[in-house]
Amino acid sequence: MLPSLKWNFVLVFVVYLRTVNSQCRQSYITICDTFEDFRNLNDTENVSDMMIGSEDGHTNMTTVDLMKTLQLNKFHKLTTLMIVRAINQLEITEEAYECRYEDLSLQHLILYGNILKTVGPYHFPITDPLKRLSLVNNQIESLQEYAFVNYDIENLDLSDNLLELIVGSSFPLRRSTKVITLKNNRLTHIEPESFPETLETLHLDKNKLRYIQDEVLQPLINLKVFTLSHNNLNNLPKVKHMKQLVSFDISNNAISTIKKDTFKNMKNLKFVDLSNNRITDAMIFKWIYTPQKQPHLTVSLAFNRLKELNVDGVVLQNQTFVLYGNPWDCDKWRDLKIKLGGQESECDKKISASNEVPYCINYNTDDIAAGDIPAGMFEPYIDRMHNTIKNNVKAAGCVLQEKKYEFLFPKFYVCLA
Ligand SMILES: *[C@@H]1O[C@H](CO)[C@@H](O)[C@H](O)[C@H]1NC(C)=O
Ligand SMILES: *[C@@H]1O[C@H](CO)[C@@H](O)[C@H](O)[C@H]1NC(C)=O
Ligand SMILES: *[C@@H]1O[C@H](CO)[C@@H](O)[C@H](O)[C@H]1NC(C)=O
Ligand SMILES: *[C@@H]1O[C@H](CO)[C@@H](O)[C@H](O)[C@H]1NC(C)=O
Repeated sequence: MLPSLKWNFVLVFVVYLRTVNSQCRQSYITICDTFEDFRNLNDTENVSDMMIGSEDGHTNMTTVDLMKTLQLNKFHKLTTLMIVRAINQLEITEEAYECRYEDLSLQHLILYGNILKTVGPYHFPITDPLKRLSLVNNQIESLQEYAFVNYDIENLDLSDNLLELIVGSSFPLRRSTKVITLKNNRLTHIEPESFPETLETLHLDKNKLRYIQDEVLQPLINLKVFTLSHNNLNNLPKVKHMKQLVSFDISNNAISTIKKDTFKNMKNLKFVDLSNNRITDAMIFKWIYTPQKQPHLTVSLAFNRLKELNVDGVVLQNQTFVLYGNPWDCDKWRDLKIKLGGQESECDKKISASNEVPYCINYNTDDIAAGDIPAGMFEPYIDRMHNTIKNNVKAAGCVLQEKKYEFLFPKFYVCLA
């Protein structure tokens, strides 16, 4: 018994030493628990993917000057650097101290789950060009002017933070910037001159935007994907000049109608999502549609307040309509269905074929007189109808997401059994 006990003791002692005098370790990536370990790391020449911090938050967060700490010149092969739950505040220990690296392999710099509060110039080393800077989920409340303006970043993601305001000249304005994502913040205002002209994708979903000034969007003539879902917009912002637009999502807002010819100049437009708004305007599709301009357009008007829809003079071939979840007037709906001649989405077909899901409302006076539906009291009834249909839509597995991806990233493949 005794020798084996002794062996156990030695083993425990070794493990103890490793945690006290902890170093970075090699797993599927190189992991350094602390910035101190990172600074002491000597064998850096072959490190390609690295994490500082811990995924489960078992290390302490510290205040750090990243410009000074991230001495990246000894990491020639580093392509991805992640800093996870390791920082509780960014600091600048020396005013205007700047490190600029050229010809690094670094492509992805990702900070996740830190507490950054504010980000400004001189907070990060400049490692041009960077494919992606992700600052998702870091409790960022503000970006200072010129925060990223000198950085060459293709894809900047600031989702899941606490931003309320975007001040002009805080984002990179270099020619290489293609994607900016600001989902799930608290944005109420964006200043003009925030976004570079080269931008191709802009995601502003899940904020508190009520209004976007024309000047903010004016430079964005190259935008292909623009998403604004889950905001408080009453009106469509000005997008008419975005001739390259392919996909436009303004679902889950408070839009009641759109201006005529809004999409007139967009020859590549394939997808317009206006679902979950407050559209009552029967002319809406006439305002969206431009004859012969967008031959393969999918328009979602799901979950609005449409009782009828005018499609007179519209060439319906190759167009797809998503129409479920509107309080259609049953008489008008029957006429519309005949006119559509099968151009409704697959999901519409499934739902209208099912007898359990309400699809239209009898607004005729007999029902109202009979007390089934009190006149002028349709609103709660429509809400109830929306909820019933929503549950069924979920059950039927109707998602437009896939369709969106198809347009944006067309992939041709076959799977053979
Ligand atoms: C790295 O090298 C320095 C200087 O040679 C040394 O002090 C340090 O302990 C080394 N770090 C590790 C983790 O071996
Ligand atoms: C890095 O990789 C090269 C080639 O495989 C090898 O010769 C060298 O010893 C490695 N360096 C370190 C510090 O592991
Ligand atoms: C975290 O900080 C506390 C208090 O300063 C300290 O007692 C603890 O040992 C630290 N934990 C680690 C893993 O460094
Ligand atoms: C519908 O699409 C087909 C195939 O792309 C095309 O040949 C046809 O002209 C389109 N029809 C209309 C009305 O645009």
